Amino acid sequence: MRLRRWNWEFKGLTGVLILAALLVVSGCTGKTTPEKIAEPKLSPETPLAIAVDIEGMRSDLAWLSSEDSGRLAGTEGEDKVVDYLQERMQELGFDASVQSFPYSLFSVAAYKLSFENSGLPLLDGAVAPEDSRVFYYSTSTPPEGLQGQLVDLGMGLDSDYTDREVTGKIALIARGGEYFYLKVQRAYEHGAIATIFYDPKGTDAIQATLVRESKIPAIGLKTEIATGLVKELQNNSQVQANLSIDSSIKEVSSENVVALLEAPGDVKEKIVIGAHFDGVDTPAANDNGSGTAAVLELARLIQLQRDQLQLDVEFVFFGAEESGLIGSYHYVDQLVPAEIDQIKAMINLDMVGIGETLQLATTNGQALSTLASAFTAASAGLGMSFEPFDMGRSDHVPFTEVGIPAVMLTASPVDNYHTDDDTLDAIDWEVMKAQVTWVLAALKIEGMAGEGMPSVIR
Ligand code: BES
Ligand code: ZN
Repeated sequence: MRLRRWNWEFKGLTGVLILAALLVVSGCTGKTTPEKIAEPKLSPETPLAIAVDIEGMRSDLAWLSSEDSGRLAGTEGEDKVVDYLQERMQELGFDASVQSFPYSLFSVAAYKLSFENSGLPLLDGAVAPEDSRVFYYSTSTPPEGLQGQLVDLGMGLDSDYTDREVTGKIALIARGGEYFYLKVQRAYEHGAIATIFYDPKGTDAIQATLVRESKIPAIGLKTEIATGLVKELQNNSQVQANLSIDSSIKEVSSENVVALLEAPGDVKEKIVIGAHFDGVDTPAANDNGSGTAAVLELARLIQLQRDQLQLDVEFVFFGAEESGLIGSYHYVDQLVPAEIDQIKAMINLDMVGIGETLQLATTNGQALSTLASAFTAASAGLGMSFEPFDMGRSDHVPFTEVGIPAVMLTASPVDNYHTDDDTLDAIDWEVMKAQVTWVLAALKIEGMAGEGMPSVIR
């Protein structure tokens, strides 16, 4: 289903939302219609009387995405972003604090991959630097490099090693089915000295993270070259790979920026609205400058309605998501059980600025949570449509793992994911506006933070 163009104001939406609550959202998508839980009801009193400020979001996102690699975790660029977020939150009337956590900063000084007897038209057997990419947290080779016979290990799963001798060899492995670090570890346990990965469904060299330092080196290779090698290996077992990687891991710190907005009166429960502010080595406008700018705008809009709040709202900008959800795991890990109980819902905005179809992701069977239902109700009330799906890969995961209902808002399709084309001019501001609006409308649904709970905004 497609996103409509938005040209309405929030004023006057109440009627639509009430109608939607009465119709109870069943026609929206089918898949998330709750059967086992109470239907969320819209609090009827207050209209969504405030407009989303697209220019404000554009200005934040222009700053955030102004530099290539400007928001990599553990770098000076990250420090500047943390200052920026703190200042912006201060301007909006918040007292934002910084939560630091240890971070292993990975860097590559040099790398080289080449093949002998490959049968491929490679100049001196060497792979061009842009056609191979060292995986994050790949260990180095010895300074003189590694040489070994290349073996095709299919997907690199357990069954691919049956009756195979890989000791001292370099494993060529296809993406899919399992995390990369597990495949690297398995290759190591079978005696391989290095791993080369490719994406049979893609084109470019994979750039992936192993999350922790690997025992043997791992590098991504352009699909065309890798599939050429697979073919050659069917008749020729003499293909040799030469690999050298000079990488290092430095222990530094990374940060989350956290700001609490307290509801009037004696409120104990809260919801968390968050986005990761770090990016990969691109301008990272959509992933995830978009979510960051959207959360700033939500903070502004919700702060304006603080008198109507019935639950506390905590805004969290997560660091180091791209290296393995490190900031959001840290945020959840430092909570004591009573604090976990107080968090009734978590809303994660990740890649919210490109795509024709709005999407709502949940994990661990949380598609039937009252939180997901509230988003269904809100979407119906706004006359929008969306696609529910099951997906982790972002900062809602640590929350669902401790039992907190959590959703991720995103949109699809996106064709510049983790590429240098992830720039400001690819952002669709109507999509951004729709996502912010969707969250605001969901916050007005009674029971969104659990059965028997009031709406977050009255
Ligand atoms: N923003 C992505 C996750 C995502 C992808 C959301 C597509 C919506 C649609 C996130 O920053 C990311 O790149 N995650 C990593 C995994 C993470 C655990 C390092 C990924 O998906 O590879
Ligand atoms: Zn990403």
